Amino acid sequence: MLLRILLTGLLGVLWDGVTAFGGVRLVDGENKCSGRVEVLRHEQWGTVCDHGWDRREAHVVCLELGCGLAESALHEAHFGAGSGEIWLRHVQCSGHEASLTRCAVVLHSDAYCTHENDAGVICSGTLLMPTLTLLSPHTVFSPGEAVRFGCSVLLGHHLSDFHLYKHGVSTPLVTQRAEQGPTPVELTLTDIETFHQGSYSCRYRIKSGFPPQLLSSPPSNSINITVVELLTPQHWYNTSTEAPAGSVIKGHNFNITCSTPQQYPGGSFQLRLIRSNGTVRQTLPALSPSVTFTFPDAQSSNEGYYYCLYRVQMGGRTFISRESQPLPIAIRDPDPVLSPMVISWIVSSLTFVVTVVVIIIVAKVLCNKEKKPTELERETRTCVDNTYVALSINKL
Ligand SMILES: *[C@@H]1O[C@H](CO)[C@@H](O)[C@H](O)[C@H]1NC(C)=O
Ligand SMILES: *[C@@H]1O[C@H](CO)[C@@H](O)[C@H](O)[C@H]1NC(C)=O
Ligand SMILES: *[C@@H]1O[C@H](CO)[C@@H](O)[C@H](O)[C@H]1NC(C)=O
Ligand SMILES: *[C@@H]1O[C@H](CO)[C@@H](O)[C@H](O)[C@H]1NC(C)=O
Repeated sequence: MLLRILLTGLLGVLWDGVTAFGGVRLVDGENKCSGRVEVLRHEQWGTVCDHGWDRREAHVVCLELGCGLAESALHEAHFGAGSGEIWLRHVQCSGHEASLTRCAVVLHSDAYCTHENDAGVICSGTLLMPTLTLLSPHTVFSPGEAVRFGCSVLLGHHLSDFHLYKHGVSTPLVTQRAEQGPTPVELTLTDIETFHQGSYSCRYRIKSGFPPQLLSSPPSNSINITVVELLTPQHWYNTSTEAPAGSVIKGHNFNITCSTPQQYPGGSFQLRLIRSNGTVRQTLPALSPSVTFTFPDAQSSNEGYYYCLYRVQMGGRTFISRESQPLPIAIRDPDPVLSPMVISWIVSSLTFVVTVVVIIIVAKVLCNKEKKPTELERETRTCVDNTYVALSINKL
C-alpha cells in the first residue's frame, strides 16, 4: 500500500509536469460547494472518473474551493453525467495537496471509465467546529497563574494555526502554529490577571485554495474561567464612647467589624487575636461584605492584636486573602464610679463631721474662758476692789 502510494506519487509528479490544469469546479449541485467535480485542462472543462474516489480526494477538492471539508464523496454520476473529456482517472491524494490536480494519478489503471462514473462531492461549506478543553485541573485561578487549554479538530492536515479567543475581544490572545501530529494543540494563557476572567473559545485556520488562502474555522465550544483576587480586608472596632482610643473598658461590650472590598459567594472572615499567652481564632460566614464579631463582656483575655482575613472556596480550591494590619486593643479597668447616692452620703457624712468639730472647738473655747480669767480681768477686779476700799476710807 505504502509502496503503491509512493509509486503513484512519483508518477503523479511526472504527470503534473506534462499537464496544464487550470482549476476545479463543482456543477449541477445545490450550491457552489456541491456537485459533479470538473477540472479545466487546455481551457476545456472535463470530469473525473470515480475509480479510487474517496473522502480523502473529496477533502482536497472542498478545501481547494474554500468549501470546508467533504461530507461525502459520491460515485456513479450522482449529480448527472458530464460531457467532454474525462481528464482524471483513478486520482489518489495524500490529503496534503493544495489542489486536486496536484494529486497523484494511477497511470496504468486498467479501469474503463465513462461519464456514468463521474465523481461528485458534497462539502460541509464551512470548516468543522473545533473542540476546546481545559487542560488545567480547575476552572478558578489566582492572578499570576497559567491556564492551559487544548484545541482539537478531527482534520489532520492543511492546518495552519490555532487561536485562543476571549469572548468580546476580536484579536486572539494566544496563537499556536499547527504542528504535524495529533491534536489537541495546547494554548496557554500565562500570568493571568483579573481581566482574563471570562469565556474562551478557539478556532483553527487552514491553508485552502490555489493560491493558498487562510480559511478560519467556526469557533469552538466555550469555557468559562474565573480569576479570584482577594483584596486585603479592612477592620475597625466600636465600644462605649467613654473608652480612650485603642482601648475597651473591662466589662463593657465591644465589636470588631471585618470588611472586604470584593465579596465572593460562600466566603468567610477569620478574626485572629494574638495575645501574650497565645493565639485565638474565630470564624464567621461572610453573608455580607462586612461582618461584625461581638464581645459582650470585655475581659483581660480579650487584650491583644486583632487581624482579619477573608477566605473563599471556589471550584474546589481555597483562596485566602492577606491579613489586615494589626488592630491593637487594650482592656482598661473602669474608673471609680461616683453615683449620686454615694456623693450625697459622702456630703452628709462630711457635714456631720464638720459640725461636730465646730461644736467641740466652740465648747472648749467657752470652757477655758470661765476657768482662767485673764490678767486684765484680775487687775480690773483688783482695781474695782481697791476703789471700793478707797472710797470707804474717804467716807470715814
Ligand atoms: C459562561 O459565563 C457566561 C456569563 O458569565 C454565561 O452566560 C455562560 O452560560 C457561561 N458558560 C458556561 C459554559 O459556563
Ligand atoms: C464604629 O467605628 C467606626 C470607626 O472607628 C466608625 O466609623 C463608626 O461610625 C462606628 N460605628 C458605630 C455604630 O459607632
Ligand atoms: C455591638 O453589636 C451588638 C450587636 O450587633 C450591638 O447590640 C451593640 O450595640 C454593639 N456595640 C457597640 C459598642 O457598637
Ligand atoms: C491566656 O490568658 C487568659 C487570661 O488572661 C486565659 O483565660 C486563657 O486561658 C490563657 N490561655 C492559655 C492558652 O493559657
